[in-house]
Amino acid sequence: MKKTRYTVAVIGATGAVGRESLEILQERKFPLEALRLFASKRSAGESLPCQGREWRIEELTPGGPFEGIDFAFVSATDAISREYGPRLAEAGVTVIDDSAVFRMDADVPLVVPEVNAHALASATRRIIAIPNCTTTPLVMVLKPIHDAARVKRVVVTTFQSVSGTGAAAMDELIEQTKALLSFKEVKAEVYPHQIAFNCLPHVGSFGEGGECSEETKIVNETRKILEEPQMRVTATTVRVPVLRCHSEAVNIETERPLTPNEARALLSAMPGVIVFDDPVRKLYPMPLDAAGKDEVFVGRIREDRSITNGLNLWIVSDNLRKGAALNAVQIAEAIIARA
Ligand SMILES: NC(=O)c1ccc[n+]([C@@H]2O[C@H](COP(=O)([O-])OP(=O)(O)OC[C@H]3O[C@@H](n4cnc5c(N)ncnc54)[C@H](OP(=O)(O)O)[C@@H]3O)[C@@H](O)[C@H]2O)c1
Repeated sequence: MKKTRYTVAVIGATGAVGRESLEILQERKFPLEALRLFASKRSAGESLPCQGREWRIEELTPGGPFEGIDFAFVSATDAISREYGPRLAEAGVTVIDDSAVFRMDADVPLVVPEVNAHALASATRRIIAIPNCTTTPLVMVLKPIHDAARVKRVVVTTFQSVSGTGAAAMDELIEQTKALLSFKEVKAEVYPHQIAFNCLPHVGSFGEGGECSEETKIVNETRKILEEPQMRVTATTVRVPVLRCHSEAVNIETERPLTPNEARALLSAMPGVIVFDDPVRKLYPMPLDAAGKDEVFVGRIREDRSITNGLNLWIVSDNLRKGAALNAVQIAEAIIARA
């Protein structure tokens, strides 16, 4: 008989993504049988609320026990995903992993349900990866444009909030801002430079060719999700002093012509995307408006007259929601719906 309630584990429950996962499980009335919350020794013994109950946080240790867990949302660190992803999968748990560790593995589906839910059928290892928080909104916008007009090349510049780095980075932006406004000395610990009142063209680590790891992820993950291994994609990733929501300026070159109005119609019909595009009335997506929302917002849709078949547009999406926790919960819901 098909299960109707599920035991869910949140690994990294006290982090920026973990806390958002609990909110989303509550809001969407996810059919919980039980919740197991895991974090480091520092947080063990504390508790967090979800669906009207307090759930005790357990220290994550190799001994688990993990048997009986149906789904694990793993949102801690790359090292935790590397060690515990396979361990949980061996214990029969369906692992939905937020880290970059498994995303490019050929036998691990990399899924945004609105774009490629069909890839879930190939989850032979019981591990499913969610994309980077900048890739997810990008592919949601590219998918309908690609289906209609074939995307030849994408040039994306990101404006990424500090919550993309986690809870400690949010604290750092607030503390630095307070210090600067009180004429005190600023400490930079999470980032290599002051982030308050600044922009850092640096997300992740630098590779040999000078590309940031975040830029490489956007290229590789976009190609994998859209099943276009040769698609020409290039990215510049920038950290900005915004608490929540990533923005992206995107230039798209297509094979076939697509007017801005046709693009607006296609994007309006895409589930999970909202076209918010009325510049004459000064309406366009902004992080402050998109924070806490599930949808990916797109605006400033206009022709790029410097090339044949070019479009420019602007995307804003909540990195902790669709960029992480919401996408993971939607994957679990899609798996339940397919069972
Ligand atoms: N933030 C985003 O927008 C975003 C988007 C997509 C993917 N991700 C990925 O999601 C993951 C979590 O990111 P985050 O932003 O939520 O980070 P975070 O705010 O720094 O939270 C990290 C979590 O991991 C736990 N943790 C750290 N070391 C641990 C250990 N040794 N054993 C057990 N638990 C440990 C922490 O527990 P304690 O509180 O006990 O230390 C905390 O719950 C990362 O893999 C990140 O790349 C993040």
